[in-house]
Amino acid sequence: MRTLIKHVLAATEPKEIVGIKGWVRTRRDSKGFSFLEVNDGSCLANLQVVVDAGTPGAEQLPHFTTGASAAIEGKLVASPAPGQKWELHATKIELIGTADAAYPLQKKGHTQEFLRTIAHLRPRSNLFGAVFRVRSRLAFAVHEFFQERDFVYVHTPIITASDCEGAGEMFRVTTLKGSIDDKPAADFFGKPAYLTVSGQLEGETFACALSNIYTFGPTFRAEDSNTARHAAEFWMIEPEMAFCDLQGDMDLGEEFIKAMARYALEHCSEDLNLFAKFVDKGLHERLKFVVERPFVRVPYADAVDVLKKCGKDFAFPVDYGLNLQSEHERFLTEEHFKSPVTVFNYPREIKPFYMRLNSDTKTVTAMDVLVPGIGEVIGGAQREERLDQLLENMKFHKLKPEDYWWYIDLRRYGTVPHAGFGLGFERLLMFLTGVSNIRDVIPFARTPGNAEF
Ligand code: 4AD
Ligand code: MG
Repeated sequence: MRTLIKHVLAATEPKEIVGIKGWVRTRRDSKGFSFLEVNDGSCLANLQVVVDAGTPGAEQLPHFTTGASAAIEGKLVASPAPGQKWELHATKIELIGTADAAYPLQKKGHTQEFLRTIAHLRPRSNLFGAVFRVRSRLAFAVHEFFQERDFVYVHTPIITASDCEGAGEMFRVTTLKGSIDDKPAADFFGKPAYLTVSGQLEGETFACALSNIYTFGPTFRAEDSNTARHAAEFWMIEPEMAFCDLQGDMDLGEEFIKAMARYALEHCSEDLNLFAKFVDKGLHERLKFVVERPFVRVPYADAVDVLKKCGKDFAFPVDYGLNLQSEHERFLTEEHFKSPVTVFNYPREIKPFYMRLNSDTKTVTAMDVLVPGIGEVIGGAQREERLDQLLENMKFHKLKPEDYWWYIDLRRYGTVPHAGFGLGFERLLMFLTGVSNIRDVIPFARTPGNAEF
């Protein structure tokens, strides 16, 4: 019978017989016995195993090298060594799979860049084991958060024919050979189809039926930006609420980020301690700060004023009507407000057609949440629920109403004020772990020029 090492280490009393399976991290040989450090990925800590030279299977000990897999049975006893409560005194060891000297994770302390080149093995390192355990726990926390609040989980399609964000950053899906734009009607779906950049439009149809919904799934963007916070394939969480305005939307975004930070502090402490030690010394203070304090809320126009008056030399220009760049976002949250910031009411020119036009007729009910170390983690809005205004918005953004007929229908039949947002799961994980490159919080990163593994 196999027990996961995390449960072995949580024992409250010694045990006569315990069976574990895992991978050897290190082996030290002494006169008459050997020490093995074994890890099975269930937790950060290794289990120390003491093997007597006479133990059944001990003749295989030379093959218990770093990276080899093994099954071990033994007696769990209190460990005399400092820093560990228990150790296993082996009564039987069995080699399952050898790992020769070419195994790339021989030594500790590899750089994250190197580990990216062995993405198939990096989950066996301490850092990446921790990252992917936290990712799993947080995915569960996302569902718990919304399910507890009666949000319905909707699986929006991955293949779509509409460009939600209107930015034209979509990957084409086709079965055509040769030039694909000559005869789109002959293509598999009878028209051009793409990988989705957002489940929002379909999500809205469900919110306008089930009231509160959320999506959580893969999202694709063909942006050619090789930055530490952009991936071509990432996971997005998109809640959508009927009978909700911008205020309610900002409230939910803030509550959600706080809840995720609280969850990580409460449920991922061993792994968080590793991040605090090796990647982000101030991690715990930052997360506690986020949980305890209200976010700053500032209209876009005021944020631009702050940036223009701050006297800082930015690489990109700052002016009313321009998009905020990452450096501007980070200045606002890290240096000026020193807090997560929700920026709202952006000029309509720089935001998509679906956002609700404010009575000033110049700004829309957009909101972006910016957090230290990352910049934008949430982008959302109250949606344009007025039929005439939605049609005018589409004209303004040069979109064809016939391409969005079903979306427009929602404004014809029982329209309601509604709002939602999208949160990039990887950016949230970067924020919660302090890991500073998006390639290191997703199992297999897809970025320009890179689809290995
Ligand atoms: O701000 P965005 O583009 O908003 C939308 O797609 C809306 N339709 C969402 C909605 O209202 N339902 O994207 C939302 C979030 C961003 O704030 C960011 O966290 C993440 O998605 N994101 C990316 N994450 C990683 N790599 C990329 N290339 C990303 N693009 C956006
Ligand atoms: Mg955005």
